[in-house]
Amino acid sequence: MRAQIAVVGLGFIGLPLALALCERGERVVGVDVDERKVRELRAGVTHVMEPYRGESLESILRRHLSSGRFYVTTSLAEAAAQVDTFIVTVGLPVAGDAVDKAPLLACMRDLGALLSPGQLVLIRSTLVPGMMERDIIPRLASASGLVPGRDFHVAYAPERVAEGRAMEEFQTLDVIVAGLTEACTHRAMEVLARLTDGQLHPTSLRVAELSKVVENAQRDVNIALAHELKAVAEQHEVDVYELIRMANTHPRVRLLEPNIGVGGFCIPNAYAYLAASIPSEEHIPLFSLARQINLTAPHRAARQLDEALRRVGKPLVGARVAVLGLGMKDGSNDIRQSPAVHFVDILAERGAIVAAFDPTVEPYFPFQAPSLAACVADADAVAVATWQTAFDDVAWPDVLALARSPLVILDLKRRIAPRLAAAGWDVPAKDHLPYVAVSPRSAWSPHDATVEMAK
Ligand SMILES: NC(=O)c1ccc[n+]([C@@H]2O[C@H](COP(=O)([O-])OP(=O)(O)OC[C@H]3O[C@@H](n4cnc5c(N)ncnc54)[C@H](O)[C@@H]3O)[C@@H](O)[C@H]2O)c1
Repeated sequence: MRAQIAVVGLGFIGLPLALALCERGERVVGVDVDERKVRELRAGVTHVMEPYRGESLESILRRHLSSGRFYVTTSLAEAAAQVDTFIVTVGLPVAGDAVDKAPLLACMRDLGALLSPGQLVLIRSTLVPGMMERDIIPRLASASGLVPGRDFHVAYAPERVAEGRAMEEFQTLDVIVAGLTEACTHRAMEVLARLTDGQLHPTSLRVAELSKVVENAQRDVNIALAHELKAVAEQHEVDVYELIRMANTHPRVRLLEPNIGVGGFCIPNAYAYLAASIPSEEHIPLFSLARQINLTAPHRAARQLDEALRRVGKPLVGARVAVLGLGMKDGSNDIRQSPAVHFVDILAERGAIVAAFDPTVEPYFPFQAPSLAACVADADAVAVATWQTAFDDVAWPDVLALARSPLVILDLKRRIAPRLAAAGWDVPAKDHLPYVAVSPRSAWSPHDATVEMAK
């Protein structure tokens, strides 16, 4: 069965995008340079967590492999011989503030060399604004020897889905689309309309590129604001989540909630993409400051844990800390630029003995414990970094009975402390601080009277 569409790059975005197209009845060939990934995908194995309508992505993958709707290869040539559309999702990594355009440009060179007249190249990666006209289209033109916009179509439609909701959002979100020519835009819109029921918004290439980066940068700024509100709420001894809930009852206020930081491939990279697209970063001090605030959020969490431990007479140096959740956000197993991993590194640098557990993250770091019990056993502190749904069903009072008493819990969103209180643990009631020192009721003794909400 010939595929109509090739999805180039089968990562966190490309794989669910390819499978969402299959769900809509398209025949898709997926291409990735990573041989191991292609071998695993062919065997029906993926670690990408994108459940859809109660089915895991792995099960959706297997369904479409066996129906023949989806085929996976490392060979771009094999794909190029059968499709009329290439959808590209190869990203631009960022190291420090430096953007690495090489993987995407290498892909454009290889793809250009295989292009045939009439084909469409639709880029969905997030770009440094200006790249379509400066880098991508010239690269496709020189490698193919064809005239873009005349001999082949080329367009940009930034991908806007959030990890964890991708399968649904591919099919429902509005999409911004820009072609090199009107005919290119039209052709791209025809393809996108087969994927999404959302509205398609045609615009210029530069606006499309900027809109994606600005959407992410705006979230970075809003999250930085939430982190500052947390500090203000603590000073006023009020619960920051209650404060945000109240402020959000105003119809024109939409504050986000603070977490342990910001991670993943999208939001943290937005500033670097934007800064690389203009002559001087001095023009965007707000974005730069937001980045700094969010980058230092795990440091602030580590300082608070240190403070809480000192309150119960335990220095952070030598303390055993169990970190729960390593994904870059709640419900994610993506560890790229994860603030939870950053938090572990900071604690270890400060002398703590750290073990971490995340049921969704494959063994990768030396500090990962094989089980929740092994992670928590004999801990002086437990820090919830990111929450996984499997944690919902844990009998926390039983598990945390394995830790030492008193136990400091850094529990920003109060997911564990209320369950301990309900089980009869002594949990001081103040809720303006992210941490609490707790003791099991059974272990309570006059000596434990010093154990109260650390401040
Ligand atoms: N992750 C998100 O939540 C998200 C959301 C919206 C947009 N995006 C954007 O989507 C793009 C992809 O992000 P991702 O998270 O899927 O990245 P990823 O790193 O998970 O996936 C990229 C894939 O491309 C492959 N690849 C690299 N060079 C290739 C080549 N020459 N030919 C074929 N395959 C190649 C890699 O092996 C990898 O599997 C990025 O531009 C990102 O900014 C990501």
